[in-house]
Amino acid sequence: MSQLPLLPPMDKRQRSRHFARREKVLGQFFTSPVLAAWMVEIATSMLDSFHAALDPACGDGVFLRLMLRHEFETVVGIDVDATVLKVCAQQLNDEKRLHLRCGDALWLLDELRERFDFVATNPPFSAKYGRVSEPSLLRRFELGSSRNSEAIESLFLELCVRSLRPNGMLAIVLPEGIFANLTQERVRQWLCRYATPLAIVSLSRTFFAAKSCVLFARKKPANPDDLVLLAHAENETDLTNIAQQIRCQCGVLKPVKELLNDMSPLHHLNVPKLHSVFPMLPLKALLWDMRSGSTEYGVSRQFSDHGIPFVSAKTVTPFGIDLRRDGRFVAKGSPMDKPQAKTKVGDVVFVRVGVGCIGRAAAVLHDDETGIADDYLYILRFRTDLLLPEFFALFAQTRIFQQQLERIKRGTGTVTVPQRLLREILVPVPPMDVQQQFAIAYHQLHDRYRNGTASVDELAALVTRLEHTLVGDKDAA
Ligand SMILES: C[S@@+](CC[C@H](N)C(=O)[O-])C[C@H]1O[C@@H](n2cnc3c(N)ncnc32)[C@H](O)[C@@H]1O
Repeated sequence: MSQLPLLPPMDKRQRSRHFARREKVLGQFFTSPVLAAWMVEIATSMLDSFHAALDPACGDGVFLRLMLRHEFETVVGIDVDATVLKVCAQQLNDEKRLHLRCGDALWLLDELRERFDFVATNPPFSAKYGRVSEPSLLRRFELGSSRNSEAIESLFLELCVRSLRPNGMLAIVLPEGIFANLTQERVRQWLCRYATPLAIVSLSRTFFAAKSCVLFARKKPANPDDLVLLAHAENETDLTNIAQQIRCQCGVLKPVKELLNDMSPLHHLNVPKLHSVFPMLPLKALLWDMRSGSTEYGVSRQFSDHGIPFVSAKTVTPFGIDLRRDGRFVAKGSPMDKPQAKTKVGDVVFVRVGVGCIGRAAAVLHDDETGIADDYLYILRFRTDLLLPEFFALFAQTRIFQQQLERIKRGTGTVTVPQRLLREILVPVPPMDVQQQFAIAYHQLHDRYRNGTASVDELAALVTRLEHTLVGDKDAA
């Protein structure tokens, strides 16, 4: 085993400003030997050349050990952390083919270029802290140039792809966001310009705390019609089945051209079977306005004892708006009094973010339920000749809506619903008399809720009746 020279240290200033903990700073979340073995076995079974293999974030060497079981002439491991690399060196000390190097792998982009047949890695990632902002480093990367900062995992993805020879194989763990987030489409586009994704496997949180996926890809530009296998592993037992699917290319396969928007396996695997006896229209066709609430933060975020009620996510209940649940007010004319965030009777208020309340919707039925909406909320204004707001507030509680909602949630830590995707949600549009019946029932239930006499069971029965009506189950409805 040869020890290569030390590279200049990473930008330690930036990291240590915020942390002492190594996991957070260096993204040291280690891969289980079972998952690593699975990744290496699948990827090497698709290789025809075994000159050199690389893990540019090797940690204690879980991938290196497995690579050394194959006939690679050279296996290179890089890690920025000297302590973890020492452990790695001790464990794999007899290997002449192994080359370890301590330093920031990103600075080695040029040196590593097109040298490897195989790259397997679990690079550092952390949504909040794992950003690279050093201009001279960013400039070296296509995904970094012209940006002030870039997520470290995207730069590692580029490093890995560039380190491969043509036709080489990549097996990499990446955060779900790279595959799912709208803002990451440019990363997916970049990937497909240089490599062909073969399979993307979503991992449950039993594998890593952060929602992650494994990507298998070959270094060769993707064709729009190339098929990508999408799968989800709930636990290590599922991996065997998925390996079989990858080998025989059987399972859920989607062409590259349909994935650039959204490569998240879960979003494609959970495709709900949408069905209604009524015409289904995208939400955007039923609205004349959709806007975001708005508020102030920091010193300008001030509430008063009276004034205009503050409509927060808390006040949006399945029974309708309940301002008593928050009880804060905005002083008239204060910076918090934002005209564009003012709700009015007939609006539907939709919670766009927040575990537990995301996707909740309520129609504003009375003047004393209006107020200034928080920026966690969207305000929807319906074309009431097409859809009644009360009907939508109830529809948002049905499974037809909830299943669609699951597919459009975005984000790893803070989950949110982007407006653009919400507009595309399909809404069944029954004739007005049918909508009226449900609107009246919603009003009556809401008014009894205000008097403290409505029950959760009654609401559940009403939502179930709506679900039956929408699918044409007349007896049950
Ligand atoms: C998620 S851990 C993975 C370790 C190992 N490959 C595994 O899967 O168990 C990421 C590793 O990358 C290292 N690392 C963080 N930033 C790095 C950088 N810029 N260059 C090289 N290694 C880095 C960390 O020290 C850590 O060992």
